[in-house]
Amino acid sequence: MKRIGILTSGGDAPGMNAAIRAVTRKAIFNGMEVFGINYGFAGLVAGDIRRLEIADVGDKIQRGGTFLYSARYPEFATEEGQLKGIEQLKKFGIEGLVVIGGDGSYHGALALTKHGFPAVGVPGTIDNDIPGTEFTIGFDTAINTVLDSMDRIRDTATSHVRTFIIEVMGRDAGDIALWAGVAGGADEIIIPEHDFDMKKVATRIQEGRDRGKKHCLIVLAEGVMGGNEFAEKLSKHGDFHARVSILGHIVRGGSPTARDRVLASKFGGFAVDLLREGKGGLCVGMMDNKVIASDIVDTLENGKHKPDLSLYDLNQELSF
Ligand code: F6P
Repeated sequence: MKRIGILTSGGDAPGMNAAIRAVTRKAIFNGMEVFGINYGFAGLVAGDIRRLEIADVGDKIQRGGTFLYSARYPEFATEEGQLKGIEQLKKFGIEGLVVIGGDGSYHGALALTKHGFPAVGVPGTIDNDIPGTEFTIGFDTAINTVLDSMDRIRDTATSHVRTFIIEVMGRDAGDIALWAGVAGGADEIIIPEHDFDMKKVATRIQEGRDRGKKHCLIVLAEGVMGGNEFAEKLSKHGDFHARVSILGHIVRGGSPTARDRVLASKFGGFAVDLLREGKGGLCVGMMDNKVIASDIVDTLENGKHKPDLSLYDLNQELSF
């Protein structure tokens, strides 16, 4: 394979630029040509495609977001959109595609693969909810951003003896809440993958108060319910001077951590290795600290991301 394309799709994630850089540099180093596709699958269908040179990816590794821009583009679920996309790729002589993104983006890569066009998926989303990998690009930066906010909020929680409900992103997945919660010493972590009992939450807060504990931080994954709704329900069990802080998109931006940059560089380089060998229909991932490739069809159809619930149990024991 001599010519490859690259796009970023779905929600942006810190480290996507580092991955684009890795793909571009590794491919050019190995005598290939690289084409950047703007605005994800929307740009692919529209033919918004340009050649990337070595200098185009300079000064990008430290930047959050994606300089190829991104889009949510449900239209790519239609066969018409997919065939139009392949037509555009062929027009530029592109023989393989690297798709960096989350679940929706993987489905786009899967559709291309099913039409016989080699595509390799690279997991990039703050949610960390992609099957076939233990970690996604952007997750580490996101949890560190939440952690920074938690440390700040704790100051106010302690000063005013308040309970804070910190709502974090993660659509249907609790990984951000779980990891940031453990790292930040949260009193409660509420995630979609684990039941909770509001009465017990209230009892634990009260027990803490009775022991003289000043602050109480509850990290809530948005997939369970909104922070305001949670506060309203909690208030039925007592007055804990609750305040709600919704971190939202703040957690999606910012300069990637070293860990995310390294992960992005490894994934990007490996995706090029696969395409150089003419292999498509794969997605890359990190399992047991090793970079691996798995079949994209199998991964999407049979794989399911599971958060590390041992962290949840551990937190219950550490935060009583
Ligand atoms: O998938 C990443 C994510 O940030 C989720 O955590 C969040 O629910 C969603 O995207 C928000 O999407 P948008 O930016 O399109 O509103």
